Amino acid sequence: MLTGGGDCPGLNAVIRAVGRRSFSHGHEVLGIRAGWKGLVEGLIQPLGPREISGILPRGGTIIGTSRTNPFKTNSVDRVLANFREASLDALVAIGGEDTLGVAARLYREQDFPVVGVPKTIDNDLAATDYTFGFDTAVTIATEAIDRLHTTAESHNRVMVVEVMGRHTGWIAVMSGIAGGADVILIPEQPITVEQACSEIRRRHERGLDFSIVVVSEGYELTYDSGERRLVGEQARETDQFGHVKLGGVGGELAREIEARTGFETRVTVLGHVQRGGSPTPRDRVLATRYGLKAADLVDEGRFGRMAALHGDDIVDVSLDEATATLKTVPPAWYEVAKAFFG
Ligand code: F6P
Repeated sequence: MLTGGGDCPGLNAVIRAVGRRSFSHGHEVLGIRAGWKGLVEGLIQPLGPREISGILPRGGTIIGTSRTNPFKTNSVDRVLANFREASLDALVAIGGEDTLGVAARLYREQDFPVVGVPKTIDNDLAATDYTFGFDTAVTIATEAIDRLHTTAESHNRVMVVEVMGRHTGWIAVMSGIAGGADVILIPEQPITVEQACSEIRRRHERGLDFSIVVVSEGYELTYDSGERRLVGEQARETDQFGHVKLGGVGGELAREIEARTGFETRVTVLGHVQRGGSPTPRDRVLATRYGLKAADLVDEGRFGRMAALHGDDIVDVSLDEATATLKTVPPAWYEVAKAFFG
């Protein structure tokens, strides 16, 4: 198995579950180090009962990860050669849209024996209700919002909290609802800077002289005039999957709010704290269930599939379906958040 893309709480729980179930099916298990890079370079290690013992609560991934894309680097032949050379029969790819996009294409074009497990704190993968890692990120962000409330209130300040999520606002909306945010800005429903400021003013007119604003890193500063502006590092570097490096919108938004409302404003960028450390019990359980399903799919030879959560059930869906579109925040979720604006 391999873990690809940004790391995520719960990866080790999947590794443990895939291992334990595969041993009981009578299979041997190996770990590919550092995502697709490990198959390009032949970085393969044994994963026996000892290696996967005691890892359930550990954050990160014991086999490492990377954002290598073999299609981008013309190294698909090396992936196939190393796979053959190591006498592997199947691959469990644990990742988000990028890692699983590579898996889907390998299956489609090369009949590669791969199954997927949906990982990402962003929760933006289609065909599954939730990805593992998301609950932990939301828990961390909510705790930060709770803590910012008390200092915001003591100093009569506006606190802007920038959270991750790439081009979707799942973490912002869920942590914002859970933490009682007064305004939430996300890429899918971009309210303008002016609207955000008037919500804050409305709140302060009600006698409340502090506010919490949650902004998703992928939100573009949007103005009543129709102008939209990328800030910070958003417009620069891209990775091998063509993603721009996000981050920085929170600081710019805080400056705009202070200049337009006159209220003292501070910014907190949560960053990679949201991805670090131990997974929540909910993520450990979801990751474990996904891992068992992936191992069963391998044992049954049902490749090109991904473990998914539908309601309370773990099912399987095609990798193509899972990677065809990005799962964005539906308007109904944003309506829940909006009921508490201002
Ligand atoms: O996809 C997970 C994620 O944490 C995004 O929310 C964020 O934009 C990105 O990864 C950060 O990537 P990196 O770890 O490469 O800085």
